[in-house]
Amino acid sequence: MISRFDFGSPIDTGAVVRQLPVSGGSVPYFALSREDHALCFTLDLAQDDIIFGLGEANRGINKRGHLYASWNIDDGLHTESKNSLYASHNFLLFFSKDRTFGAFFDDPGRITFDLGYTKTDEARIISENGDLSLYILESESLGAIAGDLRRLTGSSYLPPKWAFGYIQSRWGYKSEEDVRRIVSEHRRRHIPLDGVCMDIDYMDDYMDFTVDPAGFDDLHRFCGEMAEAHAHMIPIIDAGIKEKKGYEVCDEGLENGYFCTYEDGTPFVGAVWPGRSYFPDFLREDVRAWFGAKYHRLLDAGVDGFWNDMNEPALFYSENGIRKAFAQAERMKDMNVGIHEFFHLREVFADMANSPDDYKSFYQTIGRRRIRHDKVHNLYGAFMTRAAAEGMAAHNPDRRNLLFARSSYIGAHRYGGVWQGDNHSWWSHILLNLKMLPSLNMCGFLYTGADIGGFNGDATEDLLLRWLQLGVFTPLMRNHSCQGTREQEIYRFSLQNQMRDIVTVRYALIPYLYSEFMKAALSGGCMFRPLAFDYPDDETACRVEDQVMLGGQCMIAPVYQQNARGRYVYLPEDMLLVRFRSASDYDCFPLEAGHHWIELELHEMPLFIRRGCVIPLSRGGQWVDAVDSTDLTLLGWIGSDASYMFYDDDGLSTQVGLKDGLTEIAVKSNAQGTQAFGEGLTLHAGRLITD
Ligand code: GLC
Repeated sequence: MISRFDFGSPIDTGAVVRQLPVSGGSVPYFALSREDHALCFTLDLAQDDIIFGLGEANRGINKRGHLYASWNIDDGLHTESKNSLYASHNFLLFFSKDRTFGAFFDDPGRITFDLGYTKTDEARIISENGDLSLYILESESLGAIAGDLRRLTGSSYLPPKWAFGYIQSRWGYKSEEDVRRIVSEHRRRHIPLDGVCMDIDYMDDYMDFTVDPAGFDDLHRFCGEMAEAHAHMIPIIDAGIKEKKGYEVCDEGLENGYFCTYEDGTPFVGAVWPGRSYFPDFLREDVRAWFGAKYHRLLDAGVDGFWNDMNEPALFYSENGIRKAFAQAERMKDMNVGIHEFFHLREVFADMANSPDDYKSFYQTIGRRRIRHDKVHNLYGAFMTRAAAEGMAAHNPDRRNLLFARSSYIGAHRYGGVWQGDNHSWWSHILLNLKMLPSLNMCGFLYTGADIGGFNGDATEDLLLRWLQLGVFTPLMRNHSCQGTREQEIYRFSLQNQMRDIVTVRYALIPYLYSEFMKAALSGGCMFRPLAFDYPDDETACRVEDQVMLGGQCMIAPVYQQNARGRYVYLPEDMLLVRFRSASDYDCFPLEAGHHWIELELHEMPLFIRRGCVIPLSRGGQWVDAVDSTDLTLLGWIGSDASYMFYDDDGLSTQVGLKDGLTEIAVKSNAQGTQAFGEGLTLHAGRLITD
């Protein structure tokens, strides 16, 4: 059951696709209070209450015990003390023996989630706008509630199948030659690869929808050449539009009044990579149609994947901000600068970026309503993603393209995926990557992954190898790093053979991962879940923070500590441990429910398959299209019979349905041996373990 409660004049965020009547009754679970405009929802927490949710957020899978803020921000330092990252996903799941319910706070302004931070036994959620719709979701299980959120907010974006391949990326590839070398180095060393991201350097002077002629003289020809090598090109598109006369996107935007404006109606100017820039008002349908159509020229050149960036929107500084800073410096220039003045001056400059005052200084338009940006701040990235997706659909409604973005809000999960932003080459960020998977999934974002190896900082080879062992399972499997850091392509490292072997595991798992992804997307399910979703009565399982359920059959538990030669895992039920070294080199161990120490050398990675389940494994391939999803080896620990509902499709068309793509794989075991059946499939049952 979903109940809707409205407060003030809620802003239409576009998150909800199923309009519900406003409930006349009082809000269950929460006590309400007003402080000026702000609206506060208070809830007493019992000792065993767990709080899941908040999508892309810091810290635990269980969010209890900390302070979070929905305020999309370009902050690349994801330390434990940070309250906000790039996205706002205002969905919480409260779970205990006595009560289980979901709450979606549909409010695009700043919200503070004090989840047992000020007082351990109290949650306080404060909406600064005070204008919002609150949806309370009640159902029989955590999974059913997450499914209800999907029914309320629409089904998740479907990427093409090739987007499940390995993608290499780095800020710093400047030319055709750079990209060509990346592809050929992978091919030469048999490291599977499906795409290369083109970061801001491919553009002419960081201007969206342009290509630097010095680096890429003919993108169409180059995309064709790369397509022959089975590599997809994935350019970045940033939110800010360079202020430059004669640059078509800038000229058209100014002529038609498509940019966000100051109160007096003149276009707002902020600085990002291209320097002084304008910001399209993506909340407007006409602006989205205009901006979305700009993607066509890159699509026409043969591009079929994009990443949208800097769309919080990031602001390095605004016109006003930099003027104030210079004025302050001017005032102090002849002073004998004391230590307090020095710190103040430093702060004035540091605080220029992403300043709250700047976000209050410009306006956007929703329908007929002109609204100050900070009130709708968290929608900016979501609506940029929507513009891109709608533009691509207009280009070819029958074909899926890859699209993932940095900033988002619930609702954007219908249009694209998300990557988890500028992380670091830190071991703790492998774990953070893992924790975000179930949290993002319950908010609808199924296509996701982090920068494998870490964006900032220097990756060590053991870190990259361990991170790849988690990346094998994440729908977006992209190695990305920042210019100036240690080069991070697999072939740069002495452990490259072990890394390559781990990537082959990904390609062997493509049929299974794609099947589980599509089943989750088409049925409103979660591909990744906290253990509590599957074992709600197992108190130990419910509090596990470093293992997550994958699909209907598996659990993953990566190694995320340097120098570890294994790890402890908790098995809520009997499971088969598959210890992979490569697609063809692995061994299987049936393990009973309980705590186990699992030996895992640096080049070994675990996958746990629930007893009674089978999963299919392909022979792999050097790119996704080369993976034969009809020739499958089955893995599992089964009794006499087992089955798996296998989903597959052409990986490209948009018109897909669950029923059309499902084939039942049935396994029968008796004294004569084990046999498997599945229409149109060649199945090998030799690796199955039977009781
Ligand atoms: C931002 C992005 C990062 C990208 C860089 C340059 O920091 O998050 O992924 O490489 O900008 O475009």
